[in-house]
Amino acid sequence: MSILKDKNILLGITAGIAAYKSASLVRLFIKAGANVKVVMTPASKDFITPLTLSTLSKHPVYSSFVEEGDDDNPTWNSHVDLGLWADIFVIAPATANTMAKMANGVCDNILLATYLSAKCQVYFAPAMDLDMYLHQSTKTSFNKLTSFGNKLIPAGTGELASGLVGEGRMAEPEDIINYIEKDILEQLPLKGKRVLITAGPTYEALDPVRFIGNHSSGKMGFEIAKAASNLGAEVILVTGPTHQKIAHNFVTVKPVVSAEEMYNEVHKHFKVCDIAILSAAVADYRPKNVSDQKIKKKDSTFTVELEKTKDILKSLGEIKIDQYLVGFALETNNELEHAKGKLKSKNLDLIVLNSLQDKGAGFGVSTNKVTFITSSNTIIENELKSKADVAEDLMQLILKQTHA
Ligand code: CTP
Repeated sequence: MSILKDKNILLGITAGIAAYKSASLVRLFIKAGANVKVVMTPASKDFITPLTLSTLSKHPVYSSFVEEGDDDNPTWNSHVDLGLWADIFVIAPATANTMAKMANGVCDNILLATYLSAKCQVYFAPAMDLDMYLHQSTKTSFNKLTSFGNKLIPAGTGELASGLVGEGRMAEPEDIINYIEKDILEQLPLKGKRVLITAGPTYEALDPVRFIGNHSSGKMGFEIAKAASNLGAEVILVTGPTHQKIAHNFVTVKPVVSAEEMYNEVHKHFKVCDIAILSAAVADYRPKNVSDQKIKKKDSTFTVELEKTKDILKSLGEIKIDQYLVGFALETNNELEHAKGKLKSKNLDLIVLNSLQDKGAGFGVSTNKVTFITSSNTIIENELKSKADVAEDLMQLILKQTHA
């Protein structure tokens, strides 16, 4: 999955021959899962039609402050709204003319006015002929624009539209996307960090067809994996049986079935992880004897002897060096007291308390109401939220606590 998924990308097109490549750029952004809107300078419409771009982007294209067509009932295209909508503003191709205007605060068209009001990261991909590219005034524009915090996507070298060969060719659409993706990833706060997560239930076999399990859906753990990977972490997700799915380049899923398998898998990865978040609903007991054959019914009652499973979280608390360790506690009574007890006895840095007394919290629902308790006894109570939002909150708190 691309880091650009669900991002709002505003593509600015100026009047250069490379504008014909903008159609591919829109397609690639859409393919990466982004929402795309296009803003054009009036002159750029000589190089590519707004119809092509609106069809590909599935949004109207903006090239003037006032919508043309209906003189009696004109519509105002707000450059401010466009700028606020954008998570990323990419100007490709960026001509020498537009860059010089951007560098000097000129805003005599909607693209420039949007640039001046946008608060998001701006990338610009210059495109022009060799001598224009080498001109001192172009270099001055580059310097000024980058000093404002805009990011320059370098032009390539090759044959130019004029027939000359040299620098000035707009970066290829694939290279523009790669540049932006790489740049965003590099700035993510958990870049280079490894996060180990457990999710779902465990199934403890009784015989080849039966098991003791629980109703955990795995949703909370999967949402945490998503939130952590969106922050740039490399995630190992050890999960018991679940229907949840995740497709993210940074998430490696390790499916397990029993508590013993989960214990072994988690210990394979713990030493090299920076943060471990154990949200799985691990069985505390398992059948002492597992029958090789399906157990036949005989008497009116049937007794199963159970033995304790290993407490995975506690075992990590005993060996942790500098890993930040997070546990969950599902409680029905004396919630705070029990959660604080687990925080201490399992040597955790943070515990997430779920109370089954709270409506909408717990197994099988897509919401959760949790309280975070840190080892320094900071208690943060939260409203009922979607599990995705709880995962976001949790990751933000971990970021704060670990100063990542
Ligand atoms: N946990 C674990 N291994 C186990 C049992 C629990 O890693 N064998 C972890 C869970 O993933 C959770 C935390 O321990 O992060 C607390 O689980 P919970 O079931 O609330 O508590 P228990 O320690 O099992 O205590 P009890 O069931 O008695 O409340």
